[in-house]
Amino acid sequence: MLKKVFIKTFGCQMNEYDSSKMQDILNKVHATSKTEDPKDADLIILNTCSVREKAEEKIYSHLGEYETLKKNNPNLLIAIGGCVASQEGQNILKRAPFVDLIFGPQTLHRLPDLLAKRKKAGISQVDISFPEIEKFDHLPIPTVSGSSAMVSIIEGCSKYCSFCVVPYTRGEEISRPLEDILAEVVHLTTLGVKEITLLGQNVNAYRSITKHGHPADLALLIEYISEIDTIERIKFTTSHPNEMTDNLIDCFGKFPKLATHLHLPIQSGSDRILTAMKRNYTVLEYKNIIKKLKKKCPDISISSDFIVGFPGETDADFELTKKIIQQIEFDFSYSFLYSPRPGTPASYIHDETPHEIKLKRLNELQFMNEAQGKTISHRMLGSIQRILIDGQSWKNPKEIAGKTDNNRVVDLKANKSFINQFVNVRITEVTSKRLRGEII
Ligand code: SAM
Ligand code: F3S
Repeated sequence: MLKKVFIKTFGCQMNEYDSSKMQDILNKVHATSKTEDPKDADLIILNTCSVREKAEEKIYSHLGEYETLKKNNPNLLIAIGGCVASQEGQNILKRAPFVDLIFGPQTLHRLPDLLAKRKKAGISQVDISFPEIEKFDHLPIPTVSGSSAMVSIIEGCSKYCSFCVVPYTRGEEISRPLEDILAEVVHLTTLGVKEITLLGQNVNAYRSITKHGHPADLALLIEYISEIDTIERIKFTTSHPNEMTDNLIDCFGKFPKLATHLHLPIQSGSDRILTAMKRNYTVLEYKNIIKKLKKKCPDISISSDFIVGFPGETDADFELTKKIIQQIEFDFSYSFLYSPRPGTPASYIHDETPHEIKLKRLNELQFMNEAQGKTISHRMLGSIQRILIDGQSWKNPKEIAGKTDNNRVVDLKANKSFINQFVNVRITEVTSKRLRGEII
């Protein structure tokens, strides 16, 4: 009898989303509750990420800890979900034979089924198939806490960047039907949701056909969601530069509910490296997208991901990355050290750059990204920002806090009745990533 579930989530927002779906489905079928303490759990799930090697190593160190718990409590079940499960499958059992269930991002809805099979057969169960988009037909009606919710609209990725494991672990891009997404958003509004974040590894690759046979894309979805009165803010992430159609760019000038922020990973400022990465755009093309976006929405803030130390990256390539950062002036962005992923084309490229040089470049980039983010924060001083108050302040429980369009947390002294409301605030103080404001 399952009572308490502990889920440890690694990686991106898609994984956070998938973990909440696992919780929903176990609640529905087994009436389980969530625990924050693995020692308390009957079922421990590790929802894993394999985008970089470090994340993978962490899984095995956690498994060591859970093996000890299982020795003390033989009824404890241990499950591995997510991208490491998808990539390693049965191999996980060679290293950790005490694991009971292994399932991929597209088979998480089969968790109750897998648990039943595990109980009946008494042996570990593995299901890492990609059964199209069946997952969404089997998930229970979503539950939420608060006024912000994520909705997955497209699963997988078909871009096959030469360094990335995602297309192999999550499968090819498959979009959910438009009507299903709208129905989910409308349902979420009945639970008090006012802000929707549309999710996908390549969310702007969303393509579908309406039930009347018309083509649908992310721009159309934004237009329809904008028409839902009780939705006050729409966000979407993560976007690929090659899918920034003019229709989608136009949305930024057209729909006031669309947040004025876009996460658009460029990865490198060198065309030579972009080609080796198989990104299929040039720096000039990327700059053109930004130009068009700024024309439609001068206040838009743009953030990016960068990979440092891609095989063959020279000092000159790295200088070009620094140049594009200076030119575009990105908002708080992420930079990662290139991590060779098994089976990806880039992992076969000869790599001569010493590790210390890569680390030096990474530090330099992180410093630049941080400094640019802070500059943008300081520029927000005195401005009026629309924020969604999501709860009490993490810094001071007597205060409340909310987020701006560009994800800055704003702390303010105000009545708790503002929680779950959108309010306009004037920014009165800036401390790096956090801001302070007053309601106007
Ligand atoms: N769809 C997004 C895009 O257009 O690039 C990317 C999603 S990917 C899961 C998230 C980020 O992880 C990428 O933008 C990239 O910077 C980073 N990443 C992916 N593979 C990586 C690798 N092998 N080494 C280091 N960073 C990696
Ligand atoms: Fe990965 Fe490139 Fe897709 S970074 S998630 S293969 S767009």
